[in-house]
Amino acid sequence: MDFDALFDAELDSLRADGNYRIFAELERKCGAFPKARSFDEDAPDEVTVWCSNDYLGMGQHPKVMTAMQDAIAAHGCGAGGTRNISGNTHQHRLLEAELADLHGKDAALLFTSGYVSNWAALSTLGSKLPDAVILSDEKNHASMIEGIRHSKADKVIWKHNDPEDLDRKLAALPSNATKIVAFESVYSMDGDICPMEEIIEVAEKHGAMTYLDEVHAVGMYGQRGGGVSEELGLAHRITLIEGTLGKAYGVVGGYITGSVALCDFIRSFASGFIFTTALPPAVAAAARTSIAHLKESGIERARQRQQVAKLRRRLDALGIPHLPNPSHIIPVMIKDPVKCRQLADILMQDFGIYVQPINYPTVPKGTERLRFTPGPLHSDEDIERLVQALSTLWKRCAIAHAVA
Ligand SMILES: Cc1ncc(COP(=O)(O)O)c(C=O)c1O
Repeated sequence: MDFDALFDAELDSLRADGNYRIFAELERKCGAFPKARSFDEDAPDEVTVWCSNDYLGMGQHPKVMTAMQDAIAAHGCGAGGTRNISGNTHQHRLLEAELADLHGKDAALLFTSGYVSNWAALSTLGSKLPDAVILSDEKNHASMIEGIRHSKADKVIWKHNDPEDLDRKLAALPSNATKIVAFESVYSMDGDICPMEEIIEVAEKHGAMTYLDEVHAVGMYGQRGGGVSEELGLAHRITLIEGTLGKAYGVVGGYITGSVALCDFIRSFASGFIFTTALPPAVAAAARTSIAHLKESGIERARQRQQVAKLRRRLDALGIPHLPNPSHIIPVMIKDPVKCRQLADILMQDFGIYVQPINYPTVPKGTERLRFTPGPLHSDEDIERLVQALSTLWKRCAIAHAVA
C-alpha cells in the first residue's frame, strides 16, 4: 500500500481549497517584541508580528524571564515525571494557589496546555458524572468539542451566545440529567464576548453546572486579570473556570479552577492530567510571576487597549472594514481563502508585516480573515505602517468590492 499517496491526496485537496497551512518561520527578538527575525527568503529579515497571542508581551517581560532563568538554575529543566510519580514540585503547588486566588476559587489544577485542560476536564466530567449532558455553545473551541466527543456524554449544541436557546434546550432535558453548560468568554476569531450573566442565570434556573473557557481573557480583563468573569463580578457564580498560561501570560500551560472537590475529582480521574509529564518547574515559576505581575499592574492592559482603539480608528479612517466587537481582537474579513493567503503573503514579503491568514477549519468557509492583535509594545509607527500597507493593498488588489 502506498501510504504517502493517500496522505498526498488529502493534502492536495487541502491545497485545492486554499486551506493548506504554511507556517512562518520566525525568531522572536527578546527586548524588541513584536519584532521578529524572519527565515522566509522572500520576506525582509525583520518583520513585525501582528497576530501573536502573547497579547501583552509578557513572554519577554524581564521579571518573567528572570523567574524562569532562576528556576532553571535552581531546579534544572524538566519536572522529571507525572505529577503522581516524582513530577509534583513546590512550584506547581505555588502556581495552583496563585491561580485559585486569581479566580477567587478554592482550588486549581494545572495541565500542559489550555487545549489539554479543556479536553481532559470535559471528557472526565462528561464520562464520569451520572446521566451527563453537555450543552455546548456552537462556536466553542476545538479543545472543548474534542473533550465532549471523547466523553461520549449526550451533547446539545446551543446557538452562539443565545441564552434563550440555551434555556429552551435545558428545559427539554430529563430531570435526572446532570447538566453542564460549556461556553467561552471571549471568542477568539470574531472577538465577541458572551452575555455571561444571562447564561449563568439560565444555567442556575435549571440547576446546571457552568464551565467557562477564559483562555482569551485571562490577564486581559478584570482589575487583576481574572478575565471577563472578574470584570463582571461573576466568577463566584461559575462552577469551573478554565484558562491558559500561554497567551496573555506569555508562557505555556493550562488550568482549571473551582471547588476543592471538583479539582480533586479531575485530578483523580482525568487521563490527560494523570498520564503525562508535569510542566517544567521553571515554566510554573515564570507563569506565576507573570500572573502576580498582572494582578498588580494595569499598565500593560491600559496601553494595549489604547493601541487597539488606535488601530480601529485608523482602519475606519481608511475605509478598511473590520468586525466590530468589544474585545482586543480585530478581524479584517476577506471571505476567500486564496485572497486571504495572497494578502498575508504580500504583507509579509513587501511590507515586513506578519499576520497569519485564518482559514477553514479554524473559521467557517467564506469567513476567512486576517486577525490582528495589537499589543502594548506595538508603536504608533507600527500601526501607521500597517494601515498604510493595508490601504495600499486594498487599492492595488481592488478587492474592496469583494469584502463586506
Ligand atoms: C478558546 C480556546 N480555548 C483553549 C485553547 C487552547 O489553549 P492553549 O493554546 O493553551 O492550548 C485555545 C487556543 O487557542 C482557545 O482559543
